Amino acid sequence: MMGSYFLGWLMVFSALVLASATPKNLPVLSFDEGYSQLFGEDNLMLLRDGKTVHLSLDERTGAGFVSQDLYLHGFFSASIKLPADYTAGVVVAFYMSNGDIFERNHDEIDFEFLGNIRGKEWRIQTNIYGNGSTTVGREERYSFWFDPSEDFHQYSILWTENHIIFYVDETPIREIQRTKEMGGDFPSKPMSLYATIWDGSNWATNGGRYKVNYKYAPYIAEFSDLVLHGCAVDPIEQSPKCDQAVLDALFAGPLPVAGITSKQRVEMVNFRKKYMTYSYCYDRLRYSIPPSECVIDSREAERLRGFDPVTFGGGRRHRGKRHHRSRMNGDEGITI
Ligand SMILES: *[C@@H]1O[C@H](CO)[C@@H](O)[C@H](O)[C@H]1NC(C)=O
Repeated sequence: MMGSYFLGWLMVFSALVLASATPKNLPVLSFDEGYSQLFGEDNLMLLRDGKTVHLSLDERTGAGFVSQDLYLHGFFSASIKLPADYTAGVVVAFYMSNGDIFERNHDEIDFEFLGNIRGKEWRIQTNIYGNGSTTVGREERYSFWFDPSEDFHQYSILWTENHIIFYVDETPIREIQRTKEMGGDFPSKPMSLYATIWDGSNWATNGGRYKVNYKYAPYIAEFSDLVLHGCAVDPIEQSPKCDQAVLDALFAGPLPVAGITSKQRVEMVNFRKKYMTYSYCYDRLRYSIPPSECVIDSREAERLRGFDPVTFGGGRRHRGKRHHRSRMNGDEGITI
């Protein structure tokens, strides 16, 4: 009895250790091997053996690139260095979508980086849509624990049949588990990977209060270590060009911990406690009843109310909170 109990735990424990997240040693592609330019003419520039890409935004245009293939599940990653100084209104996006193929019922998994006025930091926003569920925004927003314009950092999306995990470097920052109630809202059709820089003046910084200032252009976002480790498929026939089993093996582990080690799970919880500034689950202005997958934590609700009592409910500020309306993070306006 005791023995099998111990053996059981030993197996769980080793699975936890072996279930490696942000898999290392995945092949890094050159731009030409995996991507094509999407827009922006000479605002897309290749450097260093074609493995580093500069996307710039100036008064004429932004720029972007897209993967040559569509993928059904996988691990998608890039090291990104964001433009420095005054970047209000600038949006850098690293995301998956199939909006060009499925116009009415597209899927999407997004990292969006929102610029800021000088002296204020970039913010990250994550979001997903499934099967055209654009009326349900599932945004979360966070501040960084480092200056993302100072160095390259790795941003990754792990997408499997039942899980989506967003990583910043080794830290998972958000995990979305498919639930029955979500139905088609969980991305489930092949998507391309995109990277873009564009002018988001009308919403990106304090709901459009601060616009892109082209006096500081060009704004250059640098991309490197491009990893496309997924199952490439034909979007119409949906026949995979790779062995799904090989892909699955990489992320095998007892759910729900596949893709996240126990140590990383602790880091994720800590990250979210400290750096999350917005969550759709707590947005009482948009959802009087939170979407079904939301698990409401009363302490989390209390913390977010401290940032923005109007959005996160209650409607009045608690005495002694040091946040003022003018410097809240929650009022940027969600208009994607
Ligand atoms: C996705 O949308 C299409 C058309 O709106 C619908 O027929 C289909 O059942 C949906 N799929 C899922 C998984 O909900």
